[in-house]
Amino acid sequence: MQRTIAVLPGDGIGPEVMKEALRVLEVVADKFGHEFRINEGVAGGAAYEKYGAHLPQETLDVCKASDAILFGSVGGPINEMHLPKWVDCERNSILTLRKTFNFAVNLRPAKVYKGMEGICPLKAEVLEKGVDMLIVRELLGDAYFGRHERGERNGIRFAQDESEYTEDQVRTAAHAGFKAARLRGKRLTSVDKANVLTASRLWREVVKEVSSEYPDVQLEDMLVDNCAMQLIRDPGQFDVIVTSNMFGDILSDAAAALPGSLGLCASASMNDSGFGLYEPPGGSAQDIAGKGIANPIAQILSAALLLRYSFGLEQEARAIEDAVEAALKAGYRTSDIKRTTSDTKSKDEEKLVGTVEMTNAILVELEKLTASVKKKEAVAAK
Ligand code: IPM
Ligand code: MN
Repeated sequence: MQRTIAVLPGDGIGPEVMKEALRVLEVVADKFGHEFRINEGVAGGAAYEKYGAHLPQETLDVCKASDAILFGSVGGPINEMHLPKWVDCERNSILTLRKTFNFAVNLRPAKVYKGMEGICPLKAEVLEKGVDMLIVRELLGDAYFGRHERGERNGIRFAQDESEYTEDQVRTAAHAGFKAARLRGKRLTSVDKANVLTASRLWREVVKEVSSEYPDVQLEDMLVDNCAMQLIRDPGQFDVIVTSNMFGDILSDAAAALPGSLGLCASASMNDSGFGLYEPPGGSAQDIAGKGIANPIAQILSAALLLRYSFGLEQEARAIEDAVEAALKAGYRTSDIKRTTSDTKSKDEEKLVGTVEMTNAILVELEKLTASVKKKEAVAAK
């Protein structure tokens, strides 16, 4: 297969972890006989320096000429946020990409890896069932894209963000949720605030209508405040969650705490033709940028999602995910996932590594995995 990937490394740790993800993609291409052409573009502060805009037309053109977008992260250091280079940087880059390419749904898996329970902030007994969920978030509606207004009435300042949903937007998200559930544990939790909000009542109504097309998937409605509590009290109960833009933003960050680090989380934003943007949701982490210690796993897993959802390369995606899991199992840890508890036995088995070494460990596992797949294929062919 021959495909072109738009690569937008962005700011902070973006370029360093992107470099590692590209190494992994190169090995996958080589092992499985594909050609991935890399089309690099600038975004965020990096783009502002060059073009005076966070998402210049040049970058949009690079994306339009590609089959998928691999995005790093954008945004500046906390103490420089007031500089024009960084003001509204995330909003201008990310929301423009979502709008331009009609990325209507966002998928964020959250999983506690076997043997990694120690870095999950929850107690061992809460994790007994295992935690492996997918959050499907609507991405183009709600207060994000409604009318924003600021003004003054009788000397009192006010601000307003309108939150609207059309039935089409809900239907798109619902279908994505049901389809994802069908490929997993066949359970879908639709999250809303239907006891108060009108848009949530429409949400619930439309999700129920769509459910008739998926009789094999079990649907449950849950209020968002309860869901926030359940994510901490009993996260193992969830398979797929589908929810609106704002609730999804908040709940997916809450769920991202479960694996133990944002450095282990990947995210996919898709439109209905399968074109997608893949990014780690962890941000540019300017405080650790350039030190060679950032965890490359989120970016590498984002590349795996790209192969799965935009290129339909399930086996290749799975190979990357399995290699990551094996490297973790072998004890490799970047500083964000190094255990700090008094569990000295397991601490001794952990090897603290930097960005490049972590990728090396993953590549070693990928090598082993693909060798065993090749062997099985050769046996089967005989
Ligand atoms: C995310 C981010 C974005 C969002 C911001 C940076 C605009 O938090 O992708 O979750 O709120 O959607
Ligand atoms: Mn967010």
